[in-house]
Formats: sequence, C-alpha cells, structure tokens
Amino acid sequence: MSEGLDPWATTLVSDYEEVMERFGIRRIDEKLMEVFGDSPFFRRGVIFAHRDLERVADAVISGREYAVITGIKPTGPYHLGTFQTAKEFVYFQKRSTASSAVFAIADVEAWEDNGQFFDVSREVAVDNVADLLAAGLDPERAYIYFQSREARVQRMAVIAARGITMATMRAVYGERGIGLYLSALIQVGDILLPQHPDLGGPKPTVVPVGIDQDPHIRLTRDVAGRMRSRYGLVEPSSTYHLLMRSLLGDKKMSKRDPMSFISMADDPDLAYRKVMNAFTGGRDTAEEQRRLGGDPTRCVVYELARFHLYDDEELKEMWDKCVSGERLCGPCKREVAERMALFLREHRRRKEEVRPQAEKIVEAAAESLNSGW
Ligand code: TRP
Ligand code: SF4
Repeated sequence: MSEGLDPWATTLVSDYEEVMERFGIRRIDEKLMEVFGDSPFFRRGVIFAHRDLERVADAVISGREYAVITGIKPTGPYHLGTFQTAKEFVYFQKRSTASSAVFAIADVEAWEDNGQFFDVSREVAVDNVADLLAAGLDPERAYIYFQSREARVQRMAVIAARGITMATMRAVYGERGIGLYLSALIQVGDILLPQHPDLGGPKPTVVPVGIDQDPHIRLTRDVAGRMRSRYGLVEPSSTYHLLMRSLLGDKKMSKRDPMSFISMADDPDLAYRKVMNAFTGGRDTAEEQRRLGGDPTRCVVYELARFHLYDDEELKEMWDKCVSGERLCGPCKREVAERMALFLREHRRRKEEVRPQAEKIVEAAAESLNSGW
C-alpha cells in the first residue's frame, strides 16, 4: 500500500519523492533559491518542497504584503523538531517589512487529539511563546491567539464545513473521530485568518510546516478556492521541511515518546547525554569506519548539526570527513553534544529574559474574544 500523510502520527515519511509526486508538491527550485537562499534552511535542503511559493516570492521581491501563519499544539515544550517551524516563522517575518505574522496556539487540537483541557494549554503556551520570542519573533508585528478564543477562526471552520463530505475527510485524513475532523476545520480557519478583513484582507500567505501537515494545506486550498467568489481568498502557499527523526533513528521526533527527542527545555547536560546515545551512521568498528567511512545520510547526529547547530562550512567539513573515514563517531558525537548543550544554554538565557513578556502576551490572548467573519 502506498503511504499517506498523517498529521497526527509518529511515523516518518519513508519515500519523500513518492509522496510529492502523488500530492503534487514541488521541489524548491533555483528561482526560489534566488529569493530564499539567504536562509540556511533552504540552502541545506531542510526546507525542500512547497506549494505555490512563487506567489510569496513575488510579494517579497516587489515589497507587497504577504502573511506567514503557523502554530503549535501546546501539549509540551518545543522540541528540536517543532522548533524548526518556529525558526521558519521568524525567518518569514523578518524577510520583509511588508509581512504580517499570525501564530495559532492550537488548544482546540490539544483537546481533540490529546484530551488536554484549555486551562492546561494556557499554562503550557507561556513556555511556547517564550521560545518564539527567544527565537527572535518581533511581537509588535505578530498576532498570537488561542484557537478556542478566536471567533474568526471558528466562524471560518463553520463556513468551510458546508460542502465537505465525510468521504472527503476520510480520503484526506483516514477514518478519525469527529473531534479530529473538527480540529482540521479549525486549522483551515487558522490558515485563512491572515486574509480576514480585520487583518488586511486577501493576500499571499505562506504556511511553514513539516510535510506531515500537508493534508491541512490541501483542505485549506480547496476551501479557499470555493470561497474565492465570496471573500476573494488567495490559496495559501506552504513550505515543507524534512521531518526530524527520533534520536533513536526510527520514528519522527515526537512529544509522545520522551526518549526520542531533545526538548528546548531540556537540561543542557541531559541533552548532552542524549546526543551521546543517539543513532549514528557509523560502522561497527573504528577500523571499518576508517576504511569505508561513515554514512551521514543515516546519522541523527549529522541531522542535529544540519538543522540547528553548524554553519555551512562546518557542516560540509563534517560530511566530508565522515564519508572519508577521517572522522570517528565518538569524538564527532562529543563535539556535537557540546554544541547542543551550548545552544540550549544560550536559548534558555534568552528565554528567561523574555518570559515576562510571554506571560503578558498569553494573558491578553486568553482574555480576548473576537467577532466572526
Ligand atoms: N497542527 C499543528 C501541529 O500539530 C499546529 C497548527 C495549528 C498549525 N494551526 C496551525 C500549523 C496553522 C500551521 C498552521 O503542530
Ligand atoms: Fe555521524 Fe559523525 Fe559518525 Fe559520521 S562520524 S556517522 S556524522 S556521528
């Protein structure tokens, strides 16, 4: 059976090419690289695919307004996999003064998917927003909200629901509870919110996500198409990053499995030990490794450096010395583990500075109620 894309699963995508082909997702090409090549995520192929990103590229080039929207399910601290989305969000906000940045705290999804109630989500969200601020988000130019408090999002979910059959939902998401279908409709509302008249009306929108979120993008583009005559909505664009693998190398990095990930809130010494235990692309013996070289494509340690830790030159050197057999896994892991601990220590320091600001943002978002479309 060919594999689908499941936004709620912990499985990895095993064949990106097949998935892209089947769902009409395109590779980032040279023209797009001319616009977005300033970003290490694009340069390193961490963001490797997209839908309609040309629209946003045009807006960037011509200084026209575009929006970036993403979100987090607030069921725990950011981990290195989800934090990738936060960094991309900040990148698109900074990329142009003409951009508006909208961020959903997915407390409806946390309830429907994980049974976590809204008051708990509110607590967890403070930490998530602090991570966003520490990643460089400019809160003055961002709108951060809770799904459960945002009537414009909910109203769009209600509007979008008409015209969607169970057969469509099953085809896109598989057989699921009504709650997950509902939270998918809410996410449609999230993605279209930047085009609400209160937020400046229709505009190109980029949704930076992991490729497992593509079903939501497809559904939203479909709704936007149907609503075009009424609201003038533009079909949203998306970028897709590779899913970060579990430290054990088998699954997607997921909050459901504590040993599989490094959290942004992990103690740096614990993170150090996790890197030392991570799955590598090394050979069975040092002798073999010197002779045959390692395999960075299989190596989670390489992946950590590629996503979060090393600059282009350092990364290239790591690759070259690994495949040539010059680099052995023991010292390589120690080096990356050091860098990881440093990265988390630095992040934690910035986070402490912005925590009071995060508390204020969350409080304001939790108190607000907005009117609908
Ligand atoms: N479903 C996303 C996740 O699990 C979070 C999310 C909610 C989101 N609303 C969104 C992502 C809108 C992109 C756009 O992480
Ligand atoms: Fe991975 Fe480093 Fe070992 Fe190469 S040498 S397989 S990059 S840990």
